[in-house]
Amino acid sequence: MIDFADRMNKIRSGIRGPLYVETLKMQERGEKVLRLNTGNPAEFGFKMPESVKSALYDGAERAVAYTEPQGMKSAREAILAYHETKGFENIDVSDIFIGNGVSELAEMAMLATMNAGDEMLVPTPNYSLWSNSLYIAGATPVHYTLKEDNGWMPDVEDIKAKITPRTRAILIINPNNPTGSLVEKELLLKILEVARENGLFVVADEIYDRLVFDGKTHYSCAALAPDLPVITLNGLSKSHIICGFRCGWLVTSGKNGALKKVKEALFSLSAVRLCGNTLTQLVIPAALDDEESTKAMLVSGGRLYEQRKAVTDVFSACEEITCVPNSAAFYVFPRINVKLPFKSDIEFGLALLHEKKILIVPGSGFEYNGNDHFRIVMLPEPETLGKAMKDVVDFIRKHAEEK
Ligand SMILES: Cc1ncc(COP(=O)(O)O)c(C=O)c1O
Repeated sequence: MIDFADRMNKIRSGIRGPLYVETLKMQERGEKVLRLNTGNPAEFGFKMPESVKSALYDGAERAVAYTEPQGMKSAREAILAYHETKGFENIDVSDIFIGNGVSELAEMAMLATMNAGDEMLVPTPNYSLWSNSLYIAGATPVHYTLKEDNGWMPDVEDIKAKITPRTRAILIINPNNPTGSLVEKELLLKILEVARENGLFVVADEIYDRLVFDGKTHYSCAALAPDLPVITLNGLSKSHIICGFRCGWLVTSGKNGALKKVKEALFSLSAVRLCGNTLTQLVIPAALDDEESTKAMLVSGGRLYEQRKAVTDVFSACEEITCVPNSAAFYVFPRINVKLPFKSDIEFGLALLHEKKILIVPGSGFEYNGNDHFRIVMLPEPETLGKAMKDVVDFIRKHAEEK
């Protein structure tokens, strides 16, 4: 038997973990399951915007060749303009790398920057892409805790306490997955000051920056700290409903060419895989020009707005669950307040799956300690979602009584 490489012992995806595998088996047997495990809007009937569709259909002929390793110039120009509008300073198209989703670029960013044994500060709970990318690079995630009793905000003292001589960088996922929390400007400035004082570079995953509710503003780390070396990641999977296109980008910024060597490494890695998918690069200018289709989902009557309401209405009326409402994205990370007869959160998820035919992701899938959290993806239509949340509450009440 050929064994897999040692590094694979650390690689795992809670989102497509054991509960997901069990769901596939149930579906093969013909059972219907409401899959609330992935942030994949098209699975729930969301359509790509017309702007994106026509750019794709009209331009397909132009998208049959490889592009430059960093991506099409016209697409990088559009990305540049977008980030300049967000307040990035002193960047140009050479700072932009287009790739097959933030996922590919996260791995490239870690390979380009981290040596074996290096550490990056990573929030918990988090989306596991980043720890997995660190493990692939031979590096180590060190967790700082997002505080649930403070709206899932990072805690500056906790961040400081986690810094060691091996710490190279801090990851800020803002808005966050799985909590849907949005870090406000003042707190971001404090975290960036910690990075500055300790000579860390910043990795900012901002893929949900356009999906912000209630008139709130998203601030980019790179714009708040133009002096610091910052690697920003963003993409169109969520805001423009094209997860399957695999369309993301990375922007390097900072004073005095602090990331010059990193750009060389990113260029080499980009060249090794020739280029990102050309068809998807084609739609970037049209998508970034079309803010309205995203905004329409976020206001009263829009799907994301109404679906958030369907979930929070149920949970806010239920004592057994505490749920910090999300300010962005389409996730919440509720806590179960009662004792249940399950040994782990995975067992809780399995029982829920079998009894109610609802697939959630347990808290441990987001590197979160404790057995009492799970993530809800708020993408089905409000009625379906509201009913499913009532089923979750009924399930918790029933099993709490067994105890
Ligand atoms: C925080 C975060 N970053 C990155 C990604 C992956 O994005 P992409 O589809 O661009 O690979 C996700 C997907 O859910 C995410 O939640």
